[in-house]
Amino acid sequence: MRRRSPTSQFSDDSMEKGNGKNHHPRVCLLASLSGLFWFLLLYFHFVVLGGNHVQDSSSLDSLPINRQSIITPQSNPHAKVESKQDLVKPKPKPLEKKKSIPSVVKPVISNNSSRRDPNSYSFMRALRTVDNKSDPCGGRYIYVHDLPSRFNEDMLKECKTLSPWTNMCKFTANAGLGPQMENAEGVFSNTGWYATNQFAVDVIFGNRMKQYDCLTNDSSLAAAIFVPFYAGFDIARYLWGYNVSMRDAASLDLVDWLQKRPEWSIMGGKDHFLVAGRITWDFRRLDSDWGNKLLLLPAGRNMSMLVVESSPWSANDFGIPYPTYFHPAKDSEVFTWQDRMRKLERKWLFCFAGGPRPGISKSIRGQIIDQCMESKVCELLKCGQSGESKCHSPSSIMKMFQSSLFCLQPQGDSYTRRSAFDAMLAGCIPVFFHPASAYTQYTWHLPKNYSAFSVFISENDVREKNISIEERLNQIPPEKVKEMREAVISMIPTLIYADPRSKLETLKDAFDVAVEAVIKRVTRLRKDIIEDRKDNNFIEELSWKYSLLDEGQTEIGAHEWDPFFEKPKDDSAESDSSAEAAKNSWKNEQGQQ
Ligand SMILES: *[C@@H]1O[C@H](CO)[C@@H](O)[C@H](O)[C@H]1NC(C)=O
Ligand SMILES: *[C@@H]1O[C@H](CO)[C@@H](O)[C@H](O)[C@H]1NC(C)=O
Ligand SMILES: *[C@@H]1O[C@H](CO)[C@@H](O)[C@H](O)[C@H]1NC(C)=O
Ligand SMILES: *[C@@H]1O[C@H](CO)[C@@H](O)[C@H](O)[C@H]1NC(C)=O
Ligand SMILES: *[C@@H]1O[C@H](CO)[C@@H](O)[C@H](O)[C@H]1NC(C)=O
Ligand SMILES: *[C@@H]1O[C@H](CO)[C@@H](O)[C@H](O)[C@H]1NC(C)=O
Ligand SMILES: *[C@@H]1O[C@H](CO)[C@@H](O)[C@H](O)[C@H]1NC(C)=O
Ligand SMILES: *[C@@H]1O[C@H](CO)[C@@H](O)[C@H](O)[C@H]1NC(C)=O
Repeated sequence: MRRRSPTSQFSDDSMEKGNGKNHHPRVCLLASLSGLFWFLLLYFHFVVLGGNHVQDSSSLDSLPINRQSIITPQSNPHAKVESKQDLVKPKPKPLEKKKSIPSVVKPVISNNSSRRDPNSYSFMRALRTVDNKSDPCGGRYIYVHDLPSRFNEDMLKECKTLSPWTNMCKFTANAGLGPQMENAEGVFSNTGWYATNQFAVDVIFGNRMKQYDCLTNDSSLAAAIFVPFYAGFDIARYLWGYNVSMRDAASLDLVDWLQKRPEWSIMGGKDHFLVAGRITWDFRRLDSDWGNKLLLLPAGRNMSMLVVESSPWSANDFGIPYPTYFHPAKDSEVFTWQDRMRKLERKWLFCFAGGPRPGISKSIRGQIIDQCMESKVCELLKCGQSGESKCHSPSSIMKMFQSSLFCLQPQGDSYTRRSAFDAMLAGCIPVFFHPASAYTQYTWHLPKNYSAFSVFISENDVREKNISIEERLNQIPPEKVKEMREAVISMIPTLIYADPRSKLETLKDAFDVAVEAVIKRVTRLRKDIIEDRKDNNFIEELSWKYSLLDEGQTEIGAHEWDPFFEKPKDDSAESDSSAEAAKNSWKNEQGQQ
């Protein structure tokens, strides 16, 4: 019996208690008698009653703790929502001043020797499916909540209301992919290309889920529970000109509905996940008057929220790729595309598609545009106020990315851009200027070793030292460039969303990667609960650091990127709040930013 045997635990316990005291023989006798009693009781339970428990628990022992999912004093959802002082003011000011974060945070794992009987957990049946060798879906089942249609389908029927400026109806066509695009200029492939809206992941993901091969109607088998709520579409309807109660209505309705379901009570919703296909700041309304508070609700804090831009300082949201225009229906379409990207002649060293951000004093976009205009080896697709710009044309954008070695991806209104994914799809090596534009963001989908597939140039160096991007990129030897490009091209399958109406044969797409990651997270959390392990030192505000840790690593320390995530000294000038970022990015959503 490998489950740290009850006897030894008991003697450990009684020894600790006895330490420093005189060992009174009667106490010892009592202790050993009670130890024997518990041993027999547990022995009966595990060995006599439970045939295969032994195997389960031995595999549980070595598991690292799932830090982000554990409720600690710091991340207590109730405390968090109510008290403003504790709240993290997002972008670009993560930390309240008075809180000082130690430079090294060692996990304090509390082990509890008087564990509950594992069989009393209602998720044990689901955990055990992984041991059933004749079940190919063991450990991978997903249960999808059968939500009332007001939470999803009805929004699509009323697609005219989804945006005051964009007619979203055309973008909801083709299972969320949008209208099919012709390949008139030979930039795309003949099939699989759509004019996809960058915030359409709600629908694409939901439809992709219908094709998942291990769906179950028996929630007691589920490794995770999917909530097919179109959270992004919901808030998009009310972002402009609606009061707070209108904006929060559907979220409150949803959590009310969920909490009444028997599935919720199993883990307080911690095995639930949903997709909110917009940036996280649209769902984290604090004092500002922007967005709703879905991700701040106690129930919202227990679920895993998949967003296209997550908060570096929160543990309940996870970045997933923005959709690109490519949605293949077959493996072969992907292979053909990858081969073509490998062989392209790329005449530009680097390129940039985007507009300046004159309203944001710290933005380096102006400098990037200047450097590009002055360089003979840079191609620029400048986005301006006029609607004439080519930067709104998918074929112009993709054509430029296909003919460049490097694609510059400075942050815009918020950290991330859809453009980074379009660039990688074109086999163009992305150049990032802030770690939150990708590295701390899409940790499920991108390799940890960022220098293998991208270039990092600190935006501070550009801003303060005006360093030459051209020079920096020219220093990279051609063989290294080739290696990096190959790394990017090989990542393509996991960065795109396959056509949800069909299924890739062998390749894993962005959806598959995300679902696997959610399942892994919930499984860890369940095992931590059984083991009664929690890290009492977990600091939610440092979530970005935890997400960079390697498997099994638990200690966080000083990081070279700390300055990027610290509150600036002059907070008087910090009017560009997350709300402002969200608002502006919304304004720009019709174009490519
Ligand atoms: C918890 O148990 C692990 C081994 O299972 C041990 O390494 C660790 O020191 C224990 N922690 C505490 C606080 O007792
Ligand atoms: C250990 O678990 C028991 C019962 O679950 C609980 O009463 C006790 O407070 C726990 N002890 C620690 C140190 O967490
Ligand atoms: C194992 O999986 C098979 C196939 O899904 C199923 O028929 C069988 O009942 C499962 N066995 C147990 C013990 O759950
Ligand atoms: C679940 O139940 C619905 C309706 O009863 C049925 O249409 C569907 O095929 C079932 N799904 C699975 C995976 O058994
Ligand atoms: C919010 O707006 C809705 C309709 O636009 C209105 O019915 C409701 O009374 C308003 N609520 C508050 C608190 O102002
Ligand atoms: C969130 O999870 C915790 C523990 O896992 C639970 O105590 C709490 O009730 C849950 N919150 C909600 C709103 O269900
Ligand atoms: C990361 O990738 C670079 C370039 O491919 C390589 O030189 C380096 O050794 C890698 N680092 C690690 C820790 O794997
Ligand atoms: C940055 O350097 C370029 C030359 O590389 C120069 O033309 C430009 O004026 C400089 N910009 C600033 C803001 O110093």
